[in-house]
Amino acid sequence: MVQINLEKQVAIVTGAGRGLGKAISRKLAEAGASVMVSDLILENAEEVAAEIKEKGGTAKAFQIDVTDKAAMDAMIDGVVAEYGKLDVIVNNAGYNVIKLFADSDISEFNKLVDINLKGVYHGCHAAVRHMIKQREGKIVNTSSQAGKAPFDYHSMYSATKFGVIGMSQVLAKELGKYNINVNCICPGIVRTEMWEQNLREYDGYDNSVDPETRWGRVVSNIPMKRPQEPEDMANAVLFLCSDLARNISGQAININGGQVCV
Ligand SMILES: NC(=O)c1ccc[n+]([C@@H]2O[C@H](COP(=O)([O-])OP(=O)(O)OC[C@H]3O[C@@H](n4cnc5c(N)ncnc54)[C@H](O)[C@@H]3O)[C@@H](O)[C@H]2O)c1
Repeated sequence: MVQINLEKQVAIVTGAGRGLGKAISRKLAEAGASVMVSDLILENAEEVAAEIKEKGGTAKAFQIDVTDKAAMDAMIDGVVAEYGKLDVIVNNAGYNVIKLFADSDISEFNKLVDINLKGVYHGCHAAVRHMIKQREGKIVNTSSQAGKAPFDYHSMYSATKFGVIGMSQVLAKELGKYNINVNCICPGIVRTEMWEQNLREYDGYDNSVDPETRWGRVVSNIPMKRPQEPEDMANAVLFLCSDLARNISGQAININGGQVCV
């Protein structure tokens, strides 16, 4: 039987208090990793960490804003000081604004860049210093299918998610010699709080469409005619963090039911 065992591994997940990050944290913990559950919202991070511990796993909650470089450095340095190493970082925290480009505002774009792109930079930058010394590490960054192809109203978000893939691919080239794998996951459509917000805001452009009708249309565009689940993303991350994927680096893996194929 093939099994993925991450026992004795130390992992940090950002944006881990709900949605995809929560599922990723649970999955890494189920595989045996000690998981640092970090989120802007401490209460949510604490809930996820408590649930992992109740099931016999090891977890610790952190309240971290990924836009704060000093805080990210301090968390990551602190984890290495306490646990002796950092094996995995999943830079997953993200945010979305659905707007026609002409209606957008630079302050919204700045916020998206700060969270979705600079947040990933901060996580990678702090982790890499330790992983280079260790001569080992796995970095998984959450991009999106909107990081590969255009979707209506997603101009600002797309810019950040294309950026995450570009940065990750260069890191894969620079860090391969240190045995550090750098990959992205590109989720398609997962009905998390982010999509609930998308549905409300899309409707702002067409008041004749209620959120459920809109959701039906979104799902009908997926070749497999079903949305993805947070667990689908967690499974892909687990694989990328395992020895099974030891020669996979610089990739942006689509988990989208076939919607975007590049
Ligand atoms: N849901 C989807 O369909 C989908 C599709 C493609 C990509 N993604 C990406 O997946 C990731 C997770 O999204 P989700 O769907 O779980 O969304 P979500 O809104 O449910 O969760 C995002 C989490 O990130 C946290 N967060 C937001 N800003 C933060 C900050 N500045 N610092 C730290 N944490 C912060 C939030 O508190 C929240 O817990 C994001 O990067 C998102 O862009 C999601």
